[in-house]
Amino acid sequence: MNIVLSGCCGRMGRQVAEACAAQGLAVRFGVDLKADSGASFPVYDSFSSRKAEEGDVVIDFSLPSCLDGLLDFCVPSGTPLVIATTGYSQEDEAKILKASSRIAIFRSANMSLGVHVLKLLAKKAASLLDGFDIEIVEKHHNQKLDAPSGTALMLFDAVRKDDSVLITDRTPFHRKRDAREIGISSVRGGTVPGEHEVGYYGRGEKILITHSAQDRSIFAAGAVKAAFFLDGIRNRPGLYSMDDMIQL
Ligand SMILES: NC(=O)c1ccc[n+]([C@@H]2O[C@H](COP(=O)([O-])OP(=O)(O)OC[C@H]3O[C@@H](n4cnc5c(N)ncnc54)[C@H](O)[C@@H]3O)[C@@H](O)[C@H]2O)c1
Repeated sequence: MNIVLSGCCGRMGRQVAEACAAQGLAVRFGVDLKADSGASFPVYDSFSSRKAEEGDVVIDFSLPSCLDGLLDFCVPSGTPLVIATTGYSQEDEAKILKASSRIAIFRSANMSLGVHVLKLLAKKAASLLDGFDIEIVEKHHNQKLDAPSGTALMLFDAVRKDDSVLITDRTPFHRKRDAREIGISSVRGGTVPGEHEVGYYGRGEKILITHSAQDRSIFAAGAVKAAFFLDGIRNRPGLYSMDDMIQL
């Protein structure tokens, strides 16, 4: 399998390049605005400036603003796409959904198996702990651009009820907590690769379920696994998730 790496010179892009090398996978070319002379593969500043290279699967850890270029490459060429980037707008989400009717796309705001298990546990706990207030806390390094994290939003979706209300900032309000609220608090500092805690607060007791990423290599390993998964179903367009990868 030949990988194409979008955002190849970023923190995660470099980790994925290392994970590919460790598994003997070739990176056919990379795309990044920062040309990294240290890369062992050709790096272009956009998909349109590449020479004739193609690839079997694209792995993307870049920015939402790269989406159009990514889809313009993947959709016409039928190249499966692993999207790990977070922070997309609703308009971007619609573009991804539309593209998934033509190509196989794997998408997860968090490529770690541990976070997937956290999500399953959090959903189960929410169904058992009726009447508990749920609060999510996420912590990331000081270079992260989007807030709340895509993973925190994914956890919110896992624990929410139909009438739940997402609160990311309480400062405009001067009132008690509404029982329908689910808060997400975002901490930014230092070099934290990613921490997520789902807390259930009842009368006289609380339960905290936490995942702490100690190393970015877990996300890279998950993305490479997702690339293998897509390569195996490359002719089946659709929007695939961690649930699909684990079940299939
Ligand atoms: N799904 C997951 O498991 C997971 C894990 C970690 C990070 N992420 C997400 O992955 C993304 C990247 O994270 P990071 O920490 O590597 O960020 P980063 O800023 O270190 O890397 C992003 C790279 O994209 C490049 N880039 C920006 N605009 C570009 C453009 N127009 N064309 C080409 N390249 C461009 C930048 O030069 C940079 O090298 C973020 O959205 C982050 O939230 C997801």
